[in-house]
Amino acid sequence: MQPVVFSGIQPSGQITLGNYLGALKQFVSVQGDATGYYCVVDMHAITVAQEPKQLRERIFDLASLYLAVGLDPNQSTLFVQSDVKEHAELGWIMQCVAYMGELSRMTQFKEKTEGKDGVSAGLFTYPALMAADILLYQTNLVPVGDDQRQHLELTRDLALRFNTRFGETFTVPEVLLMKEGARIMSLDDPMKKMSKSNPNPASRIEMLDTPDEIRKKISRAVTDSGREVRYDPEQKAAVANLLVIYSAVSGQTIEEVIKQYEGRGYGDFKKGLAEAVVSHLEPIQQRFHEIRSSGHVIDVLHDGATRAREAAQKTIDKVKRNVGLGANRA
Ligand code: TYM
Repeated sequence: MQPVVFSGIQPSGQITLGNYLGALKQFVSVQGDATGYYCVVDMHAITVAQEPKQLRERIFDLASLYLAVGLDPNQSTLFVQSDVKEHAELGWIMQCVAYMGELSRMTQFKEKTEGKDGVSAGLFTYPALMAADILLYQTNLVPVGDDQRQHLELTRDLALRFNTRFGETFTVPEVLLMKEGARIMSLDDPMKKMSKSNPNPASRIEMLDTPDEIRKKISRAVTDSGREVRYDPEQKAAVANLLVIYSAVSGQTIEEVIKQYEGRGYGDFKKGLAEAVVSHLEPIQQRFHEIRSSGHVIDVLHDGATRAREAAQKTIDKVKRNVGLGANRA
């Protein structure tokens, strides 16, 4: 049997090159060998304030991007989280399995709330909903970037705890990380991950940036005071990050890229990098615009939700039976 693969991306901003290299690219590369579920996790997005009209647009943008990078609705199930009510249902049950202590230790929660007022309760229980997303489909593998590793560990802990308490119910999933690209850093600060929610747009390359925007952002990306193109993540974190990006979008190894720029300095390297990113993204952007304006995405998402619901209902029935919920006969 093919492994079940599940992953999700929040429609909470413009999708970045980090999302693509850490997650989306993996979705496509496992597609032929897996039963894939790829979700637009809109309920996770509303853990922080979203403008409703913009949220709706971003859901369709993200789903169009799923298709544009190569996810095929005949092979993979593409859907929106809130269209499959079982996510909310199991999310609640997982909240009752998760402990306050372990949720408080999530570094993403700490980072997202530091110095903020009005933090929603949903942001705190976010990882319980994420566990529900994954466990609903009896998932074997979850392709994500490195920043989701802790959430995945918690998901495994919750699955094991549930199975021990209520009997075998869930498959315990494994994380699937890219060897390189699992953690793409900001262009303005190599100590921070590239993020769609960073207030500085120059910190990231967005999948729909124009060639000129991409060239400008890369030419302004921080490097260091040297001029040698060398892969040294400790001493030269910014250049190492650019090398990882270069390698991922060009298909060359890091060593090949270094060789190509031997003795040529950062200026040439950045120009080459910008062209490599532009030519990798151009066909994706072209497909995106065609798909986005075709009006076809809504059908893909409706069909995906129907298929996802079928699988999710089986799990939720089993969960409720095992927990003792509802008025159904045992
Ligand atoms: P989100 O929307 O923040 O990011 C989507 C995916 O992109 C990866 N990613 C990165 N990878 C490499 N470098 C980066 N700089 C970078 N930034 C983001 C993320 O690791 C992620 O794989 N909690 C999830 C959404 C989610 C989910 C799920 C994921 C909800 N339910 C179930 C998997 C399974 C999130 O916030 O992703």
